[in-house]
Amino acid sequence: MDLGLRGKRAFVAGSSRGLGFAIAQILMQEGCQVAINGRDEARLREAESALRRLGGASARVTAISGDVALPDVPARLLPRAAEALGGLDLLVTNTGGPPAGAFADLTEQAWREATEALLLAHVRLVRAALPFLLSSPAASVLAVTSYSVKQPIPHLVLSNSVRSATVTLMKTLALELGPQGIRFNAILPGWTKTERVEALLAARARLNGTTPAREREKIEAQIPLGRMAEPEEFARAAVFLLSPAASYITGASLVVGGGIYKGTC
Ligand SMILES: NC(=O)c1ccc[n+]([C@@H]2O[C@H](COP(=O)([O-])OP(=O)(O)OC[C@H]3O[C@@H](n4cnc5c(N)ncnc54)[C@H](OP(=O)(O)O)[C@@H]3O)[C@@H](O)[C@H]2O)c1
Repeated sequence: MDLGLRGKRAFVAGSSRGLGFAIAQILMQEGCQVAINGRDEARLREAESALRRLGGASARVTAISGDVALPDVPARLLPRAAEALGGLDLLVTNTGGPPAGAFADLTEQAWREATEALLLAHVRLVRAALPFLLSSPAASVLAVTSYSVKQPIPHLVLSNSVRSATVTLMKTLALELGPQGIRFNAILPGWTKTERVEALLAARARLNGTTPAREREKIEAQIPLGRMAEPEEFARAAVFLLSPAASYITGASLVVGGGIYKGTC
């Protein structure tokens, strides 16, 4: 199946590693021009070089650093991305995850920061991208959230709570802006092997007096497919939702979790 991505222009927030990087890599392989993003300039440059090496002479990737959880940053970055790419068709809204912790241990400040990164960054990225997306014949937005919005994850109350608003935001935008030709979907990763997950396993091991390997085993025992995902397995689903091949899918929330979510819808 042709995903219809050749020549499309994409901005992927939070993509110097992890899930965002995997999405950027597949978009590039499918013939997109991709702008990648992250806060750490050196890591972002490494990611840009890695994508160029993977994509060969035809690779079309540009790096735009900045913290998209800061109020004014998306409004500065998106015009730069659109200028570098010659427009914008695809937007992935993504940031790093919040700290783990029990409700009683989380401060007011932690809740504010989680709201900035997990909700308001998505709001601001979409707002800044809209003028460009409205000029695209294949405009599509994908928010990276978590399966925690459907099935709360122990010790991750910030993610469980704040991300629900982001999924509802995407659904509302799908209704509001569908008539103007823009699709909005949310993707809800399950446990996928990234640095974020290594950090969460280490935190659980400290909390429970075990090891990260033991914590991984405990999680994998709850996954019907019996293992965590590779980032590419997540990214293939994400890229499909973004692509013109998913032209009639909008307002959807797709769990990519190996069956970990046990509900029926
Ligand atoms: N991996 C999983 O199993 C899983 C499951 C459910 C949900 N999620 C969620 O999915 C998202 C991505 O996860 P991941 O595993 O890929 O995380 P990760 O390994 O920590 O990677 C996060 C990426 O985003 C960048 N980033 C973080 N905060 C940013 C910001 N404010 N502005 C711009 N770039 C930022 C990071 O680079 P810099 O640090 O240099 O900025 C990095 O490139 C997170 O919100 C995570 O909680 C992940």
